[in-house]
Amino acid sequence: MIQSSFRLATADDLDSLVALEDRCFHTDRISRRSFRRFIDMPRDRLLLAEHQGQLAGYCLVLMKTNTRMARIYSIAVAPEWRGAGLGEAIVREAERQAAKAGRIVMRLEVRTDNPAAIALYERLGYRRFGTLRDYYQDHQDALRFERRILFYEPSAEFPAIPYYPQTTDFTCGPASLLMAMSAVDERQPLTTLEELRIWREATTIFMLAGHGGCGPHGLALSAWNRGFNATAWISQEGPLFRETVRSPDKKRVLELVHEGFLHDIGQTGIELHHDPLTLEEIERALRAGQVPVILISTWQLNRSRVPHWVTVCAVDDQFVYLHDPEVNVEDGETIADNQYLPIDRRIFDRMSRYGRSQPLQAAVIVGPKRTP
Ligand SMILES: CC(C)(COP(=O)(O)OP(=O)(O)OC[C@H]1O[C@@H](n2cnc3c(N)ncnc32)[C@H](O)[C@@H]1OP(=O)(O)O)[C@@H](O)C(=O)NCCC(=O)NCCS
Repeated sequence: MIQSSFRLATADDLDSLVALEDRCFHTDRISRRSFRRFIDMPRDRLLLAEHQGQLAGYCLVLMKTNTRMARIYSIAVAPEWRGAGLGEAIVREAERQAAKAGRIVMRLEVRTDNPAAIALYERLGYRRFGTLRDYYQDHQDALRFERRILFYEPSAEFPAIPYYPQTTDFTCGPASLLMAMSAVDERQPLTTLEELRIWREATTIFMLAGHGGCGPHGLALSAWNRGFNATAWISQEGPLFRETVRSPDKKRVLELVHEGFLHDIGQTGIELHHDPLTLEEIERALRAGQVPVILISTWQLNRSRVPHWVTVCAVDDQFVYLHDPEVNVEDGETIADNQYLPIDRRIFDRMSRYGRSQPLQAAVIVGPKRTP
């Protein structure tokens, strides 16, 4: 690995940048004018790598407005210094700068006929997520890659929460509850059988088109019945998800199940709140070693409006960190993508409501085990 130092470009670097660009690219070159514009743009970073006082490479990182994405718009290393780890060092420095600016994900495009760059990105953990047809001036396609760059630093202020991926499409609630319970008490088993048991206890039976998921009443009862303290926060009274099914028979089943849950809750010490659970309360609970599971709308995550349970792990002044039990393997996701997922606080606020006309807010906070 060759030694290099990094700094941001200034107008004095334009001559050497243009010369490097000419040597590194045959098409889609960035013009002198464009380089100047990027240098003047306070949001973006034109990062230079110098070796022995000479320009050895650069990386241009664009910080999009209104999103938490950064994008490597261009990267190049002088031919004489390639293959010595400089490309890797520049990408890592670009990621550090973008993460410092609050960006969660780095994205980039690369020509399909650029094996050196593709090999580099794959080695650095970038995942391919799409293709842009006819993207370059010579009509070549571009492969799109991305990598998460901002990670939660575990801190003693919040409970350590083990991650557990849901086994079926309809067990996000049980999987989230399992994570919360096992964080509060490490003896709580994290098994598929336990996940399915909780689903059988807590399901609303019907919801949308498929199997019913779980509601907050049922999940709070499952936690209580395993010896945990539990508080349920539900912004609406009456049966939940009633409007997601059409047939009167299904509506009636939902009503009966709801009445049953209310009856069972009446036999326990579960506190039922009908006011919204604020982020301040979520943070207070976490700092006290309690773990909230909350219902979100997946609209902000993947543009589908599905009610979905997640476990809240930590809160800082920028982000709320979630364990999302759903791993979309077909989209190339791995477990690592769904642990401590950082969600902008403002987006979290919108996300933690399900439905448009009368948004439902629902959460269960799992507290310490009751003394027998
Ligand atoms: C892509 C680029 C920035 C990489 O810079 P670099 O300093 O050589 O990067 P590194 O030394 O850190 O790593 C390069 C990797 O590519 C591999 N590589 C080099 N030539 C390769 C080839 N023809 N096929 C496959 N892999 C190749 C190297 O072996 C190395 O991987 P390894 O360390 O696992 O062996 C540089 O090649 C470059 O400037 N190319 C021209 C401009 C360009 O294509 N930019 C990318 C636009 S998306």
